[in-house]
Amino acid sequence: MAGRFIVFEGIDGAGKSTLIDEVSKKLGSAGIKTVVTAEPTEGPIGMLIRSGAVKCTSPNAEALLFTADRACHTSDIVRWRDEGLTVLCDRYYASTVAYQSAGLDGTASGKEWLMDINRPVTVEPDMTILLDIDPEVGMRRVGQRGAKSKYEVTEYLGRVRSNYLDIARERGFRVIDASRPRDELLRETMKILGE
Ligand code: TYD
Repeated sequence: MAGRFIVFEGIDGAGKSTLIDEVSKKLGSAGIKTVVTAEPTEGPIGMLIRSGAVKCTSPNAEALLFTADRACHTSDIVRWRDEGLTVLCDRYYASTVAYQSAGLDGTASGKEWLMDINRPVTVEPDMTILLDIDPEVGMRRVGQRGAKSKYEVTEYLGRVRSNYLDIARERGFRVIDASRPRDELLRETMKILGE
């Protein structure tokens, strides 16, 4: 039987990776085999993005790189899912739409175009969970681990957050208030996944 493909989205500092690890453990102890994966990936295009080697101020070029990375990732995701594994993925197409249309440095890509380039290289997740959080709170959390991405700027993340909420409404994502205590967050996520 094919497994499930579950995506977690949210701005930096929303707590996605910790939650994904906790969910993976819970599912594992219930006998459900999972794969935890993330974008940008650790494949060649993901590593190029992470290296910062592409010094280019075009948001469209960045969007194409994130999307190219995703095109490779999608074939892995489909394979894992077809093998019966439950794929827990930290970020997917909504990250590109929310971040690259939010206009860092005053330039932005169009949302429609971002959706268009992503459509042929993605599969629709069985469920996307958006961890919604105020960027001030998110940045305080990131501050504790040290800012590491040029995208971690409060004002910009406010626009990313509002883009995420728009996409969530359009695409039927489940939205969770990520400012709540960790154990509550995990409980609510498990409840949603149980449905
Ligand atoms: P992040 O999830 O923070 O990765 P890690 O924690 O492993 O460094 O992603 C890195 C940054 O890339 C983050 O600020 C969000 C941004 N990003 C985009 O702008 N567009 C995208 O499509 C993706 C996948 C990430």
